[in-house]
Amino acid sequence: MNAPFKDILTHTEAGVMTITLNRLERKNAITSAMYGAMADALAAAQTDAAIRVVVLQGHETIFSAGNDIGDFLNKPPAGMDSPVFRFLHGIAAFSKPLLAAVCGPAVGVGTTMLLHCDLVYAGDNAAFSMPFVNLGLCPEAASSLLVPQMMGYHRAAEALLLGEPFMAEAALEVGLVNRVVSPTEASNLAQSVARKLAAKPITSLVETKRLMKKGQQQLVAQQMAEEGASFGRMLQEPAAKEAFGAFMEKRKPDFSKS
Ligand code: COA
Repeated sequence: MNAPFKDILTHTEAGVMTITLNRLERKNAITSAMYGAMADALAAAQTDAAIRVVVLQGHETIFSAGNDIGDFLNKPPAGMDSPVFRFLHGIAAFSKPLLAAVCGPAVGVGTTMLLHCDLVYAGDNAAFSMPFVNLGLCPEAASSLLVPQMMGYHRAAEALLLGEPFMAEAALEVGLVNRVVSPTEASNLAQSVARKLAAKPITSLVETKRLMKKGQQQLVAQQMAEEGASFGRMLQEPAAKEAFGAFMEKRKPDFSKS
């Protein structure tokens, strides 16, 4: 018998499904198996009438280091059916309330997945970053559309071109998070808001979310597809090879030739 998959934990209570990234030894870096498990959990939550709200969370010290670089190089996403795209489409199309509790670093997809959450609660140790350029890549998860919309173009350019981390208070100011609390409180706060939502009429929640999002849905899907095609191509190019090689060898990348 296979050992249970411990890197993603799911727990359902009082109408709330909690999906926990649980790979602390690798800073919750996300492998394709983890994307697949999260996509499956979201798909189950979507159809199960007993689940009314989903909460995504990591640990008090780390939300996620983004894609697992080794896994990514060994198993680059192949097409729209790949686990990463199933997950990204799953969060973008999820019709019920989706919350996140974020503490510590939230790198790459660790930040961009939050653009598809309805409510985000952050610990004051949260540090958000989208270092795609520093990895020789381009944005994903429709972040090249949603980040400029959320922050305004110049702040988005700072976040996406420089790729430097910004802290919880700055994320609150630009509207990426709803509230900043201590790291020990973030998960409890997300749970208590999730339970409050779970007690409301699901038909009204779903219809309200649909109406808020409908103007964008097609654009988001198109942007994700275009980003995905560029990301896949750029993964094979010299800049990304240098960036990932440098990460594995624990040295600074040299982009003078790319
Ligand atoms: N993929 C694979 N392994 C990763 C990883 C990732 N994205 N992020 C961290 N790890 C590994 C490290 O290599 C290290 O492994 P080791 O113990 O064998 O040396 C281990 O997880 C612990 O990471 P470390 O960097 O020592 O932790 P930290 O607390 O000093 O820093 C981060 C945490 C998240 C800030 C840092 O790990 C980081 O920047 N990671 C890379 C993030 C990234 O570029 N993600 C985008 C991918 S597209």
